[in-house]
Parts: sequence; structure tokens; C-alpha cells
Amino acid sequence: MSDPGPAVGAPADDAAPSDPVSPGLLSMTSAVDDDGRLSVGGVDVLDLAAEFGTPLFVYDEAHLRARCREAVEAWGDGVAYATKAFLCVAMARLAHEEGMCLDVSTGGELHVALVAGVPADRLVLHGNNKAEAELAAALAVGVGRIVIDSFDEIDRLERLAAVAGTEGAPPWPRPKVLARITPGVEVHTHEFVRTGQEDSKFGFGLASGAAAVAVGRLSALDAAGVVEFVGIHAHLGSQVFALAPFAQAIDVLAGFFAPLDLPELVVGGGLGVAYVNGEEAPPMAQWAASVRQACHNAGIAPSVRVTAEPGRSVVASAALTLYTVGTVKDVTDHRTYVSVDGGMSDNPRPVLYGSGYEAFLPRETTSARPRPVRVVGKHCESGDVLVSEAYLPDDLEVGDVLATPVTGAYGHSMASNYNKVPRPAVVFVADGEARTVVRRETFDDLVRLDR
Ligand code: LLP
Repeated sequence: MSDPGPAVGAPADDAAPSDPVSPGLLSMTSAVDDDGRLSVGGVDVLDLAAEFGTPLFVYDEAHLRARCREAVEAWGDGVAYATKAFLCVAMARLAHEEGMCLDVSTGGELHVALVAGVPADRLVLHGNNKAEAELAAALAVGVGRIVIDSFDEIDRLERLAAVAGTEGAPPWPRPKVLARITPGVEVHTHEFVRTGQEDSKFGFGLASGAAAVAVGRLSALDAAGVVEFVGIHAHLGSQVFALAPFAQAIDVLAGFFAPLDLPELVVGGGLGVAYVNGEEAPPMAQWAASVRQACHNAGIAPSVRVTAEPGRSVVASAALTLYTVGTVKDVTDHRTYVSVDGGMSDNPRPVLYGSGYEAFLPRETTSARPRPVRVVGKHCESGDVLVSEAYLPDDLEVGDVLATPVTGAYGHSMASNYNKVPRPAVVFVADGEARTVVRRETFDDLVRLDR
């Protein structure tokens, strides 16, 4: 039997927690000089911290572009960037420029994409509770696809169709729609980000027969010229390392999908990324190839456009967050707490899902990290932990800039103003230049909605 190598998603056996941060967790253009100082996109990250302040999200623009191109290459036209992972005007433009469609799941995400100038026909509208106003807005601008999630949504579409072009309501172009199906496949990921199982708020269950009823109603709307029913969608969950569940989902869906003779099948997002030393995630191309192989094996016609909606795997490892160390507290017989100037307001993932991250000092990126510490934020609760079991160099001191890599997905997009902490700025760095793409919030911003 051949050696299977380290399990995907599991740390390698010979890794020590005090090892320097793995280069594989740093973005593409990261470079370390002879003194161990880290630069991204040709800019020293300590200079970035000095110029833009901390906390700061630093995105490697070349990395973002490369990942978008990789997605298009792997999946072909129609692959959509899931904007929930990280969205601002600059990101929407970048993903569009690199050939991706954009998956937007609320009226707000739709608005940002449109403000960015992304053509509506490159947008895919998602959401388990699309308000009539959100649907109407999407229809009015002519979004490329709408993924239908519930019977109530079909009712809303019917109501909107009935008044379109009358009573002052604008006529709308016939939208292309897909039905979101929950295939009943469970993936090994955190319960909160699992979505493919039957017991879910998302989509139409296959086993319950809801999917068949939905398809019947959408086919009738298609026949009536209200929509163009083009395909089936299934998203299993997020931060999935194993490719087998995707193939399994195709297997389960194929019997339902093939007889419908529809031209499109979307497998959602979900490809996992490595967050800590020793983890390894499958490349985008391998994910696409295994899904395509599963489609072939299941007898799905080669003419079917099979695409996906990667979010995390496009943006996560493109960014790191810079913080400044403010307090170092040794609690005898327990641990050392290293408090930084952000916390659960810029990265709620450790608190929400128990997610692990690495921490390191960009002034000595390649140094061993023998000192076990807990990196915590500045919020008023003990649960405000960024890295529960972090390792840092022995000479760590107050005032140091500390970095957490792989924070490009679901960090800024889930940021809050808890404790009235202003949200960090976001910079894109490329070719020796850094540009602010989202400015840091000010104290005045914190009261701008108050009346
Ligand atoms: N498509 C659909 C329909 C989705 O619901 C999602 C994510 C994606 C695509 C993109 O999935 P990705 O490729 O990013 O895994 N806040 C959580 C993740 C929630 C994911 C929600 N849906 C986290 O920080 O882990």
C-alpha cells in the first residue's frame, strides 16, 4: 500500500508548535529579508503598520488576482466569487476584471457590486430569505442568475411577475433561475457552516420531495415565459477539506438532475484553506477536476455547465492582519496573555467556530516561536480570543507589530463595532505600492447613524 502522506487538513507529525510560521500560509508575493522582516507586494509590512495604523487588513493584490484566474481556469466561465467572504468596491472590481461572476446574497452585497460597476448579468443572487424588494431590485437591473431557495420566494416571483409592466412597476427581463437543493450530504466541518443536510434553512430537500415540487413550479413558470429555469444548485458547507463529499453530492443529485435536461449545475463553494502550520488543502484545480469526474461518472451530459462559487479559497490566504501588542500579562502557573488592539470585532471566527490561526512577529518572520501565549483582543469579555494557543518569539515586547495570516476571508466581512471599536482599514498592496481600499472607521463614524 502506498504511503498516504499527512492527512489533508491535519498537521504533519514532525511539526513543532514553536516552528516559524509556515511560508505556505503567507501570500504569494511575501518575501523575507536577511533580517527576517516580511514584505508583501514589495512593501515592508512594518512600514504599512506605521503608515496606515493597526489593526490593518493587508491584501496581496497579485495573490487575489492569481486566485481569481485559477478559479476561472479550473471551472470555466460562470464561476462566481462568493462575495460574503470579503467584499468592498475594489474587491468586486478585481474579481470582475479577472473574469469571475459574483455571488451576492443580500440586497447590500448586490448594491456594492453594482456600485463597483460590475455588470448585472455577471451577478448571481442568493439568499434564503430574499425580500420582495431585493428580488424586485435584482429583476429590475437584470441579474445574471437567481438561485431560488424557498416556496415563499417562488410566490414572490409570481406576484412580481403579475405586476411587472403594470401599475407603474417596471417590466423586467425574463430571469435565469436555478433551484437550490439540499442533497442530504453532511460534511465534516463546523455545524454552523454545514448546509447540505436535509435539516437546513437553505434550499429544497431532495429526500422530502420538496425539490421535485419546486422543480415542477419553476418548470411551469418557465413554460409561462416568466423565468428561464436553467439549473440546479447545491452548496454543502464551508471549510471542507475532503473532496469526497462533493463527489457524493453529485452522485446523489445526478439521478434527480439528469432527467431534467437542464444546462447548468452549480456545486456552491466550500473548498477549505490551510489556516495553521501543517494543514494542507486541495488545490482549486483538483476540486474542479474531481467534481467534473464525478459528473462524468454519474452520467451527467458533458454539455452541462458545471461551476462553483468559491469564496474563502479565493481570498483567505491573500491577506494578513496586523495588530499592535499593547499589554503582555503573565499569570503565574497559567499563561501569558498578549493583548492586541483589535480582537473579536475584526475576526470573530475563533469565538464563533473555535477556528485556529497562527501568530508571528513580522520583524522576525523566520524565527522560532518558543513562547506559548494566548493572543487576545481589547473587548470587554474573556471570550475575546484571537489565537488561543499561540507561539511567539521570546523577545516579544509591548509595541511589537503582530501578524495573523490567512485572515482574508470572513474577517473584514464579519467585522463589527463591538465596544465601539472602529473597523480596521483595508489596503491592497502590489508592485511596491499600497492603496487604501476601505478606510479606517473614525470615532465620528461611530455616531453617524445616531439621531
Ligand atoms: N455559495 C453559497 C451558497 C454559500 O452559502 C457560501 C458560503 C459560498 C458559496 C462560499 O463558500 P466558501 O467557498 O467561502 O466556503 N462565516 C463562515 C463561513 C460561512 C459560509 C457561508 N456560505 C466562516 O467564517 O467560516
